[in-house]
Amino acid sequence: MRRFLIAGNWKMNTTRQSAVALAGELATAGSNYEAGVEILVCPPYPYLIPVAEKLSGSAVQLGAQDVYFEAPGAFTGEVAVEMLKDCRCRFVILGHSERRHVLGESDEIINRKLRAAISGGLQVVLCVGELLSERQAGQTEEVLDRQMQGGLSGVAEADAANVVIAYEPVWAIGTGVTATPEQAESAHEHLRNWLATRYTPGFSENVLILYGGSVKADNAESLLGQANVDGALVGGASLKSSTFVPIIEAARKLSART
Ligand code: 13P
Repeated sequence: MRRFLIAGNWKMNTTRQSAVALAGELATAGSNYEAGVEILVCPPYPYLIPVAEKLSGSAVQLGAQDVYFEAPGAFTGEVAVEMLKDCRCRFVILGHSERRHVLGESDEIINRKLRAAISGGLQVVLCVGELLSERQAGQTEEVLDRQMQGGLSGVAEADAANVVIAYEPVWAIGTGVTATPEQAESAHEHLRNWLATRYTPGFSENVLILYGGSVKADNAESLLGQANVDGALVGGASLKSSTFVPIIEAARKLSART
């Protein structure tokens, strides 16, 4: 049985004060969700430590939004895996569409980061997703295959067990346009089949595949209710407990049902 994972990607938002306040509210709410639903928050780098302190002893896990692949050294502006571990991060998001399309990250860079993160003991949320133009050209599956192949290049099954996939169609991120549950399920099923072929069917059955892109309280249940949707990677709606907790609640209801 796969568990649900509801993750908040705070992106370049919050202040130290609002980040800590939000973490405190989620830590309190999270104490109700131990069974079947995991919660993860990914604040900006400068707020990792105060948020970690606030989450201490709670069920809410901490992740970062990126990492660099080199060991500590002369890499101005970058952050190493062991620094994230030192800040009590368990996860790191890699390959987010904003890093691919705004900051120009290639699959090769993402792969180097992913391998460094896993060998340093972090779990990775690997984001993949097509542009609107690629979907309209019927290239969705080809794009997903390329991003999966590139991101997981040289990663053995034992290491891939530390990877969660997030399907985030670029056209649905921050736009208010959500993939329909059918569109999400079709992409997720494709990703799971890809994992079954690349690794083994047994392995692929256990991989969590999250959906991201304008997830809100009112569409969470229909998306999370799909057979291959194991959680959500939430941007805008993760910035307030009043909009994030109902998404966690939708997962809890569904997990109690199964
Ligand atoms: P929104 O939920 O704001 O569309 O962002 C999704 C996302 O990019 C999460 O990583």
